[in-house]
Amino acid sequence: MKTLVLKVTPSNPEATKIQVAAEIIKKGGLVAFPTETVYGLGADALNAAAVLALFEAKRRPLDNPPILHVADKTEVAPLVKAVPKKAELLMEKFWPGPLTIIFKHSAKVPSVTTAGLDTVAVRMPKHPVALALIKASTQPIAAPSANLAGKPSPTTAEHVYDDLNGRINAIIDGGRADIGVESTVVDLSLDPPILLRPGGTPFEALEAVLPELILHPFVQAEKELSLEKTPSPGMRHKHYAPKAPVILVEGNLLDVVAKIKELTEVYRAKGKKVGVLSTDETKNSYQADTVKSLGNRSNLASIAQNLFCQLRDIDAENVDVIIAESVPSEGLGLAVMNRLRKASGYQIIKAV
Ligand code: TXA
Ligand code: MG
Repeated sequence: MKTLVLKVTPSNPEATKIQVAAEIIKKGGLVAFPTETVYGLGADALNAAAVLALFEAKRRPLDNPPILHVADKTEVAPLVKAVPKKAELLMEKFWPGPLTIIFKHSAKVPSVTTAGLDTVAVRMPKHPVALALIKASTQPIAAPSANLAGKPSPTTAEHVYDDLNGRINAIIDGGRADIGVESTVVDLSLDPPILLRPGGTPFEALEAVLPELILHPFVQAEKELSLEKTPSPGMRHKHYAPKAPVILVEGNLLDVVAKIKELTEVYRAKGKKVGVLSTDETKNSYQADTVKSLGNRSNLASIAQNLFCQLRDIDAENVDVIIAESVPSEGLGLAVMNRLRKASGYQIIKAV
């Protein structure tokens, strides 16, 4: 399959190009597009054959359902059994934006789209390109992140191209995704509501609106939990994994830096090529083969923005091992730490 690349102006995408992409979606094809979090791979959510092709293209296990993207709050009602008051509150405050809400679904949503669950994940993105594509397609768009299953989510059209060229019909190139980590997933089909995946909307902001909201234990897990009973299928699958093993070093910053220096020496003495994921404040402390900075510690949003891109870049340098610094688990740092722990396969070292 030839993959068409449509370059658009992110803030005001050209209608003719959006129309080309929308026609592909309407015919059951697959189009990758930018959102404010990461790039998504879209298909008509109500077309079971198209959604099945979507799973195949990204080699995603069939038990892990995609998020349904809508362009307006009024498009939620037909997809769900009921819109609870709590959902209205969250939608009012956080949509459009990086928040996904889990509802009980209506009969309208095909079972392949929901992976046979009785719930469905819905989000209204903020990115003008995503909104324009959903509107022009006239259907909700099912879109997981536009990476091959298990890889870091794509934050640029180039990342999508690297993973999916030849496997999908088109990529809309709308520049870099701003937030850099995926949306926060909140399950409102359960009581009390549970945050299943930390992401672009901080827990603290959600808690201010829904004080009863709790964090699923998996969000901050430091080891692989028993995965059979996880409420979110995505929790069971391997994620964000570069080719090289990742070791995450946690603790207070001075101890972390000392531990990473020590580990770097050990691996280099064994002839291994070492990559370090550092921060602006610490990047000059290391003598590894390659050192990348995730961003500034005083700005956790910048670290979220760079995370997936730096994971891909450091992996492209064919290092034998990647050693990463931890960051504080507050604000967007909660999402960053969750992704780093998963990327490490829970190879976590506590520096003391
Ligand atoms: O920011 C984002 O959320 C991006 C952009 C493209 O919108 N999308 C994204 O999709 O990250 P994906 O499929 O990679 O992640 C969706 C997550 C998965 O962990 C999945 O298991 C979970 O949402 N999910 C989907 N439907 C669910 C459901 N009914 N119940 C619980 N979890 C669900
Ligand atoms: Mg994903």
